[in-house]
Amino acid sequence: MSSHPQEPAASTRKPINLHRLRELHASGEKLTMLTCYDATFARVADDAGVEMLLVGDSLGMVLQGKSSTLPVTIDEMIYHVRSVVAGNRTAWIIGDMPFASYQESPSQACANAARLMQAGAHMVKLEGGGWTNETVRFLSERGIPVSAHLGLTPQSVHALGGYRIQGKTDAAADILKRDAKAIADAGAAMLVLELLPSILAKDITEMLPIPVIGIGAGVDCSGQVLVLHDMLGLTKGKLPRFVKNFMNGAPSIEAAIANYVVEVKAKRFPENAVHGY
Ligand code: KIV
Repeated sequence: MSSHPQEPAASTRKPINLHRLRELHASGEKLTMLTCYDATFARVADDAGVEMLLVGDSLGMVLQGKSSTLPVTIDEMIYHVRSVVAGNRTAWIIGDMPFASYQESPSQACANAARLMQAGAHMVKLEGGGWTNETVRFLSERGIPVSAHLGLTPQSVHALGGYRIQGKTDAAADILKRDAKAIADAGAAMLVLELLPSILAKDITEMLPIPVIGIGAGVDCSGQVLVLHDMLGLTKGKLPRFVKNFMNGAPSIEAAIANYVVEVKAKRFPENAVHGY
């Protein structure tokens, strides 16, 4: 592979913006998102038709080999947002706010979100329920689109007792529904739901006016996200049950990603209700 910068391959798609994402959501078309951490994969995923690239703090586990996302810093996130922006042409880019970059106060969150936006992100994502409402409102009112993230929130892995399915009891489901509504009311433009019973994810998706993107949350969300290296079969060890290896039978990485887009849009992925990792 050449080490020289490459021109993004020609694509007929116009750059995706929030207006376009809302149009697609309103039309009932399923939205596609993948994690992405570098320019080469950004170009491939964009060319394959993925609408949203999430520069996730999962890069701590996927790229750095750590056992959780907690060690990832804002400087590392900025580096990877810049790399993805360099390879992308049309996809909507979401920069994850890493652990300890937004927990302190809305103004701490705003200063760090501004750094991600200046690196080229179009939206930031932060994890957590009711305590994040004030921050979501603060950022949204200042023109920073925010995606919330509920359910399994990996930055809280130690508090949650591991990477386990959330919202299994009626009480836990009610809290998640209440949090989802409050976060949308606070101005979140999108919500990621991770590892929930599909019936609960369906209820939340139907309840909210904003797109709800699921990972291990069933087919009834407004769209899907997967960790890129998982869906390309590159991750070794035990994978969550909801992950599918799209490289099986695919002639190229771009074809595998294009097939992911097709299967999400056709509601063929994910196939089954999720019961856990
Ligand atoms: O960091 C990440 O990759 C994420 C996804 C798993 C949604 O937050």
